[in-house]
Amino acid sequence: MQVAEQLIVEQIQIGPMQNFAYLIGDRATREVVVVDPAWDILGLLGMIEERDYKLTGALLTHYHPDHCGGSFGQNTVEGVSRLLEHHSVPIYANEHEAAGVKKVTGISDSDIKKVTSGQKLKIGDVEIEFLHTPGHTPGSQCFRVKNTLISGDTLFIDGCGRVDLPGSNTDDMFRSLQQLASLPDDTLLLPGHNYSAVPHATMGETKRSNTYLKIKDPETWKMMMGG
Ligand SMILES: [Fe+2]
Repeated sequence: MQVAEQLIVEQIQIGPMQNFAYLIGDRATREVVVVDPAWDILGLLGMIEERDYKLTGALLTHYHPDHCGGSFGQNTVEGVSRLLEHHSVPIYANEHEAAGVKKVTGISDSDIKKVTSGQKLKIGDVEIEFLHTPGHTPGSQCFRVKNTLISGDTLFIDGCGRVDLPGSNTDDMFRSLQQLASLPDDTLLLPGHNYSAVPHATMGETKRSNTYLKIKDPETWKMMMGG
């Protein structure tokens, strides 16, 4: 993948649901954040240690247990609460998602740093911008770092996140996808799951092939997605 020289961007497929976790950081200072740590916390921490990176935080795209840990059905997935047992770092969640993160993972208010859309976080000299992209969940967010976009379950290369789940909203998803479609074509899209033939693609490629991004009017969207 083509990323700026200064950037650390590592895409890590993890767990049985084809999730992607990411390490994002500054190659000069070796500071990194982990995006959506779940399924195998010791494995992720081992990678960070092996590469001599310094973990300074965890960023959550949304509160579903396959991205941040927690229980669903009979399954329990390890995530940020396990991470905090080993590393006391802030957990960054959108302001509209913090309550959900707390409920699903069991971590406390003081562990969570609530962020708003447009807010920026510096990791060494690398700036990460938080973009609120509701739809899949009320506080879903994407992370923009130079010419890369980590899109969680908002946008996949061939699709978008489900909008038939509790807390989902089809109208919000439409607006969020329109917002992402306005990003430059050379933006590298890094999704939250490995659901496509390729693990990443440019925004230009995605705009040409992704049916959901091609819909430009809310009526057609509603007809297709319901809600
Ligand atoms: Fe999700």
